[in-house]
Amino acid sequence: MEVLRAQRIVKNYQDANSVLNILKDIDFSVNKADLVAIRGTSGSGKSTLLHILGLLDEPTSGNIYYFDKLVSTKNRDLSQFRNQHIGFVFQFHFLLMDFTALENVAIPMFVSGKSWKRSLAEARKLLTGLGMDQRLKHYPNQLSGGEQQRTAIARALINRPDIVFADEPTGNLDSKHAWEIINLIKHLNKEYGHTFIIATHDQNICNNMNIHYKLDKGVLEQEAVL
Ligand SMILES: Nc1ncnc2c1ncn2[C@@H]1O[C@H](COP(=O)(O)OP(=O)(O)O)[C@@H](O)[C@H]1O
Ligand SMILES: [Mg+2]
Repeated sequence: MEVLRAQRIVKNYQDANSVLNILKDIDFSVNKADLVAIRGTSGSGKSTLLHILGLLDEPTSGNIYYFDKLVSTKNRDLSQFRNQHIGFVFQFHFLLMDFTALENVAIPMFVSGKSWKRSLAEARKLLTGLGMDQRLKHYPNQLSGGEQQRTAIARALINRPDIVFADEPTGNLDSKHAWEIINLIKHLNKEYGHTFIIATHDQNICNNMNIHYKLDKGVLEQEAVL
């Protein structure tokens, strides 16, 4: 089942005297339970593309469909749509420092309209499943980098999104913790059918995903899986 389709996505940035054409006419689609890597060097436009696909940023032109319905990004508050359908994991975790791991994970569910009690119960279940049962009451600065990223992944998953975007999710981790996160993502995909789009500059990470794209000079190309 198709979750997302993007058609003819163009993104330009205007600076003082020229136009930077960052994304050129990109077509892309994702099916339920796909595990997709988008590889590209630093500055190739991976973050820009993920933000557009995840409705955090607007394309200069082009259309984005979720479940075959055109999502208009103009004049519309998309935060509720994102809260229900889309999860994000960034290179930096962006956890709220004054809240525990458990509370950080519960917040998006509470925002979606569920009770705080139910949100906490669900967050506890999810974090426990990710091996974080001994860290529930820890604050972000009391967690290791890998634990912070696990918490961020739990937060991205709590509303059972249709798609999770992960923008260099292992970029700040040493290689041991990076592989823990990659294996966790693979496990969540295989066991529960979570759909992930992962941007990375790392060929090894890319090789661990099922579908590979390369972003180069603003052009997105699918690559054969080796
Ligand atoms: N708001 C902006 N204004 C102008 N240029 C930008 C802006 N955001 C990103 N860029 C440029 O777009 C290009 C792609 O950036 P980005 O999507 O962050 O790449 P990546 O995530 O692959 O490193 C870079 O050259 C960057 O300088
Ligand atoms: Mg980036």
